[in-house]
Amino acid sequence: MAVDEPPVTVLGLGAMGETVARTFLDSGHPTTVWNRSQERAHTLVAHGAVRAETPRDAVTDSPIAIVCVTDDDAARTVLDAAGEAVAGCVLVNLTTGTPDQAERAAEWATARGAKYLDGVIQAGVDQVGTPEATLLYSGPRSAFAAHRTTLGLLGETHFVGSAAGQASLYDLALLGLWYDAELAYLQAIALIGSAGEVDPETFVPFAAKQLGYVLDAAPQVAREVRDRRYPRGPATLVEHAPVLDHLIQLRSSVGMNTDHLGYIRALVEQRIADGRTEDGFTALVEHLTTPRGGAS
Ligand SMILES: NC(=O)c1ccc[n+]([C@@H]2O[C@H](COP(=O)([O-])OP(=O)(O)OC[C@H]3O[C@@H](n4cnc5c(N)ncnc54)[C@H](OP(=O)(O)O)[C@@H]3O)[C@@H](O)[C@H]2O)c1
Repeated sequence: MAVDEPPVTVLGLGAMGETVARTFLDSGHPTTVWNRSQERAHTLVAHGAVRAETPRDAVTDSPIAIVCVTDDDAARTVLDAAGEAVAGCVLVNLTTGTPDQAERAAEWATARGAKYLDGVIQAGVDQVGTPEATLLYSGPRSAFAAHRTTLGLLGETHFVGSAAGQASLYDLALLGLWYDAELAYLQAIALIGSAGEVDPETFVPFAAKQLGYVLDAAPQVAREVRDRRYPRGPATLVEHAPVLDHLIQLRSSVGMNTDHLGYIRALVEQRIADGRTEDGFTALVEHLTTPRGGAS
């Protein structure tokens, strides 16, 4: 005998929201949908979804309501329209945002008797509903555990922490990792190209091997940061200093910006001046952030 799947509500039926709602419908969940432009619900209704007239009606239909709209302003508009009706509901916000926005939404929801999970979709619409999609969630662990099976239909699902902002913190940290790594690669290609006509493809095997070192060392680096122990690794900071000087000089000579490298070089110098000459490069992590609240 088929077990009844729990009802789900989806607010926001853009490209992503519609895919999310369709995934639940296809898995047999009674699905209530709401969208600002009503016509966008028609296809889903034809497949068995129930269209709610208002966000308020939509959230009262299910124990879990998923919000997936353009941005935080739009999400706030939808949640405000749902108002006090969110009491007792688990709100899952899949709208892309910042940690601060997630914390504010969590406060809003908690004040109205709802539980708030912030979610991040690291996938395109074509991947949602398959194991290729990765979704990160943060908020009350009990709310996540209660709906893990339902949320798991959308893709590979991870709980990353009880602070509401944690999922978008991960999201932005990972985006930053991509930007920095991609820019590092582009800078290397630009430097090679500065010598004249070089097909960047000839550089690929060497670059791939170099990037591989970063990837291979990732678990060890994480342990060193956690334990605040910074063994020399491939070189000590004293040995890194002249390499950085050569690189800064070379990049500068071909008109490349060296601000970031100069900043790294200054941190190395500061650490050496503090007598930490035998530390490895990972020691710089201690200088990359200022504790919240700012320096006094
Ligand atoms: N698409 C992707 O591949 C993807 C991947 C990862 C994450 N995301 C995230 O998922 C979220 C939704 O993206 P999407 O691709 O579905 O966007 P989209 O196709 O542009 O749809 C936007 C949705 O937001 C609604 N909306 C906008 N302003 C609103 C307001 N003031 N009040 C109520 N509803 C409003 C729209 O309603 P109307 O139909 O009435 O305009 C529509 O349902 C975004 O935060 C995005 O960053 C998307």
